[in-house]
Amino acid sequence: MFLKDTYINRRNLLKKRLGSGILLFMGNDECGMNYEDNTYHFRQDSTFLYFWGLSYAGLTAIINIDEDKEIIFGDELTIDQIVWMGTQPSLREKSESVGVRETQPHASIKNYLAKAVSKGQKIHYLPPYRAEHKLKLMDWLGVKPSRYEASVPFIREVVNQRNYKTGEEIFEIEKACNITADMHLAAIRETRIGMKEYEVAAIIEGVAYASGGRLSFPTIATINGQTLHNHYHGNTIGEGDMLLIDAGAETEMGYAGDMSSTIPAGKKFSTRQKEIYDIQVASHIAAVGALRPGVLFEDVYNLSAKVICEGMKSLGLMKGDSDEAVQAGAHAMFFQCGLGHMMGLDVHDMENLGEVWVGYDGRAKSPQFGRKSLRLGRKLEPGFVLTIEPGVYFIPELIDLWKSEKRFAGFINYNKLEAYRSFGGIRNEEDFLITETGSRRLGKKIPLTADEVEALR
Ligand code: GLY
Ligand code: MN
Repeated sequence: MFLKDTYINRRNLLKKRLGSGILLFMGNDECGMNYEDNTYHFRQDSTFLYFWGLSYAGLTAIINIDEDKEIIFGDELTIDQIVWMGTQPSLREKSESVGVRETQPHASIKNYLAKAVSKGQKIHYLPPYRAEHKLKLMDWLGVKPSRYEASVPFIREVVNQRNYKTGEEIFEIEKACNITADMHLAAIRETRIGMKEYEVAAIIEGVAYASGGRLSFPTIATINGQTLHNHYHGNTIGEGDMLLIDAGAETEMGYAGDMSSTIPAGKKFSTRQKEIYDIQVASHIAAVGALRPGVLFEDVYNLSAKVICEGMKSLGLMKGDSDEAVQAGAHAMFFQCGLGHMMGLDVHDMENLGEVWVGYDGRAKSPQFGRKSLRLGRKLEPGFVLTIEPGVYFIPELIDLWKSEKRFAGFINYNKLEAYRSFGGIRNEEDFLITETGSRRLGKKIPLTADEVEALR
């Protein structure tokens, strides 16, 4: 945990900015995997962690701005829980460690909120993303799970704080990035033809756990990189394959790293693989070079997409004007993912609060195929932490569909494209802090260019 003043200051700022009402923070509970006592790894809600710092199940907190009160609702462990799970600090001790003086038993929250509602106080809550949150809202406030109305002012103020990373947060994120880099370096060095994808995943995840961390999201280690989020690990890595790795660590405090690499199964990329690989790297380098405060991230995306179009034109896979192709959306034959996303306590930071607020400052997102997957489009500001991860993917079903529709026939050479239908996919990803003058890569460098990758194989 950070020092208690960090949490006190964060809550004070929130109170000042929101001005009135009750802010409700729903912590997470334990969650049974295949029966109640066999639980998934406990992960506290990130907004709860940000404002209250406590990574324990079964807590709810409120800020009653109108009465200037902060209360943590929770229960002491029973003797049965202590017997099986060991002891913990008392609720009072936990609360005092983050500057909160008042605690109440968890059962009191329903009454507390009912009284507040009867006094005409507004209860602000964030979008629930777990069934337990929805059930609590139904029990406490009578809100039907399909009809909840999260508070936009509350969302906006949380986003307004969490989007700007402080020095102590950047230190934590950089720790996560360094572990993440070590996960990739180990896999890049140790992957061999004949290994199963799950053996590589085990190497990657072993590094995270051995560093005292965890995973910030489920590991991708796949020879089918054209499937953007491919979590299957059962294939054998064969001669001529490429392996796409997308993996990241989470520190004990909950901060994330997120990097991707693509490597040849053998010592070198084939000529054809290298041609496409170089296009992805050129797009990546162009995007990194454009990172600075004031630049619209959607423009950086347009630039990275244009570089991919130019590369595809040089191989005869595309034709026509690249700017026009990007505006029309033709680049999404190859580049269907976004360019990057905010990162912090969540790998896709605050995605549960809504990409439009986090990544677009309230501006509507484009519905265009490909561009709609861009999670971040807003003007960049110092303190933002984000990923850069353009990709080049050959998806047979997409090729067949667009070809049958003659979609973007003025930009895409479908006849040449046929030869690439089983090529696979390539992505590289690094993490950056936007500084006052530009950007800084976070964490150790992992190989990016084909030469850098091959030097470690
Ligand atoms: N690393 C997973 C993602 O960014 O979607
Ligand atoms: Mn990412």
